[in-house]
Order: sequence, then C-alpha cells, then structure tokens
Amino acid sequence: MTRPLLIANWKNHPSSLDEAKSLLKHWSRNAKLYKKLSFFIAPPLPYLETVALRARSFAQPASQDISALSQGTHTSQVTPDILKSFGVRLAIIGHSERRALGETDEIVSQKIKIALRAGITPLLCVGELSRDQDGEHFEFLREQLKSSLAGLSRKADSARLAIAYEPVWAIGKSAKDALGPDELSQTIIFIKKILTDMFGRALAERIPILYGGSVEVSNVENLFKGTGIRGFLVGHASLNAKSLGIIAQLLLKK
Ligand code: 13P
Repeated sequence: MTRPLLIANWKNHPSSLDEAKSLLKHWSRNAKLYKKLSFFIAPPLPYLETVALRARSFAQPASQDISALSQGTHTSQVTPDILKSFGVRLAIIGHSERRALGETDEIVSQKIKIALRAGITPLLCVGELSRDQDGEHFEFLREQLKSSLAGLSRKADSARLAIAYEPVWAIGKSAKDALGPDELSQTIIFIKKILTDMFGRALAERIPILYGGSVEVSNVENLFKGTGIRGFLVGHASLNAKSLGIIAQLLLKK
C-alpha cells in the first residue's frame, strides 16, 4: 500500500518569511506524523530554500509552476535545473489560478514535457469551472486532460505523472461548499477511464489522482475513504499549522 499524498500549496502565502518559518517550526514538532505520508510543500519561490532546509526531515519541496522555456535567456523564468538544485522533484502544473491568467492547455502540455525531461514529476491540475445538470463538465474534463497530456509517450511519460482534480468552483471556499464524496468518486472513475484510453489500463492505474478544493479538517475523511483518490492538494487549510496536522492524522486513520 503506497503512502497517502499530502501536498501543501501555499500559493502566495504566508506574507512573510518569518511566518513561513513559524509554520515549518510547528510542523517539525510533528515530523514523525508527516514522515508517514508523502508530504510535499509548494511555497512561494523565495521561501523555497527555507522549506528545503527546515522541512528536510519530514517533507519535500515542490514548485507551484515550471518555466515553459527550457533554453535561452529569459528574465523572471525559473528553469527545472534551478528547481532541482533546491531538491524539487514535483511541480504543480496548470493550476486553475495560472490558467485564469491565460495559461492554455498547449502551454501546460509543453511544461509537462519539460518537467518529465528534467526528471521532475508533473502534477497536472484539471477541473471544470462549474457543474451543470447535463454533465457537460465531464466533456470539459475530457478535453482538458487530452490536450494537456497530448503527445506523451505511453510508458516513459505516464509512469511519472500525477493528476490533481481541482474543480475551480470549489477552490478557496469552505468544506460545506466543496465537492461531495459521491460526485468525487464518480469523477475519479471518469478520469481513470480517460487515462486508461490514453495509456492503457496497467499504466493508468499507476497514475495517482489527488483532489483539491476546500479540503478542510471536517471533510477530509469523507473525501478520502472509498473515493479512489490517493491524497490531497490543500490550499488555505495548509496555512494553519494545527489543521494540517489533523488532516495528516485523518489520512493515516485505518
Ligand atoms: P483551497 O484548499 O484553498 O480551496 O485551495 C485548493 C487549491 O487550489 C490547491 O491547489
């Protein structure tokens, strides 16, 4: 049985390095707990070194993005080599908050290939903007997955891929507004079916699927048990030292 995945996506928080250090200090007291999980922290880039050093014993650093430009001189871009020098082995790619700034499936697909070539696991984020009675969100998801994963070779690429299902309408709210477990199970089956069509059953089954979108202490258990997901990508609740500890405990509960 593989360890549950827990990824703290700090986005553009906390607002100072001191606050980031204090969060890490709190978590390091619970290092034994976090070590039982595959725990990643994706901080704002200026905090990356601090996270890499201070969380070394219980978490791995991750990046919230990766540059689509692998060669040449590009002011502001952070290349896979730089990320790797800080120990980054997983990059969130195609987060909806980046897509909202104009990142297309084409750019996402390019970034996935760059990450894979560099030996960094791409965590591809997909998710519909809204849900309707007619189930059109399924079609949206199918298109997003197919175009973001276009051109990947079956074996080599799919073996190091991870997916985060993050319905955009459920992000940044509270547990009561998040997706329910039944809808989550249904959607995970759908995503697995698409991955199976693309990569074959054996490979598709090895691709971990995570959920993100208002994961909090009160809904984490219901969303985890029996829904087919392998873990969570947590936003706001990962900025609360205590909440994340409880979430970690609940993921490990038998
Ligand atoms: P929240 O947990 O704040 O809804 O954020 C989810 C998310 O976007 C994680 O990547």
